[in-house]
Amino acid sequence: MKIGIIGAGFIGRALATLAVANGHEVMISNSRAPRTLGSTAVAIGCQVGTATQAATFGDLVIVAIPLAAYTEIPAEPLVGKIVLDANNYYPARDGRIEALDSHATTTSEMLAAHLPGAKLVKAFNAILQDDLATDARPAGTPQRRALPIAGDDAEAKRIATELIDAFGFDVVDAGPLAEGWRFERAMPGYCIALPKEDMKAALAAAERGVEVPHGSWRR
Ligand SMILES: NC(=O)c1ccc[n+]([C@@H]2O[C@H](COP(=O)([O-])OP(=O)(O)OC[C@H]3O[C@@H](n4cnc5c(N)ncnc54)[C@H](OP(=O)(O)O)[C@@H]3O)[C@@H](O)[C@H]2O)c1
Repeated sequence: MKIGIIGAGFIGRALATLAVANGHEVMISNSRAPRTLGSTAVAIGCQVGTATQAATFGDLVIVAIPLAAYTEIPAEPLVGKIVLDANNYYPARDGRIEALDSHATTTSEMLAAHLPGAKLVKAFNAILQDDLATDARPAGTPQRRALPIAGDDAEAKRIATELIDAFGFDVVDAGPLAEGWRFERAMPGYCIALPKEDMKAALAAAERGVEVPHGSWRR
């Protein structure tokens, strides 16, 4: 599969590395210019482009940029495509976003509203980039770590699940995109290594507005 990645920071690079290792063709991009990604591309074994080129390139496109920049993502090339949204809301970094603070929406619903026609799946937001390499295990491994997803398109979720499984993780479907708050920042299942049944329990236990202590998800 061709995978475009918008964002070439910690999580974009980690996902690009896994995607290449799994035989996918990858193009990464950042906010500056492809020429700033030359050594990264060589190290990972991927192509580089602008965000628009990565969006056009991918059959599936991963968004991995600071949330505050989400309106800069090119919408037109993503119409009809599967978009995996790894973004999180960190007010200290992104500034206060009233619609999120008031729980009127979720981070991924905001992105979906900006990308009409895209098949958006919230995925890879609830794992720290280092853990993508260290916690990956073959399918069937006891206590294999599970990652939560949410989305409104069943086929897009199926493909996201296949990709996550190939990357080394079980998947727990939290339901439609509107349920994505259950694994946003500081919810009980956020960036915690849990096997499938425990992740399901963590999603069920989440209460909107009730946060775990900041940073408790770090090891
Ligand atoms: N780090 C993690 O472990 C982790 C895990 C899960 C989810 N996340 C989430 O994933 C997102 C990215 O996190 P990160 O840690 O990878 O951040 P990061 O290391 O700061 O990297 C951000 C990347 O986004 C690019 N970018 C910024 N604005 C852009 C735009 N308008 N168009 C294209 N690219 C743009 C930056 O490019 P330039 O350098 O050229 O500006 C940079 O390559 C955040 O929402 C974060 O909360 C992070």
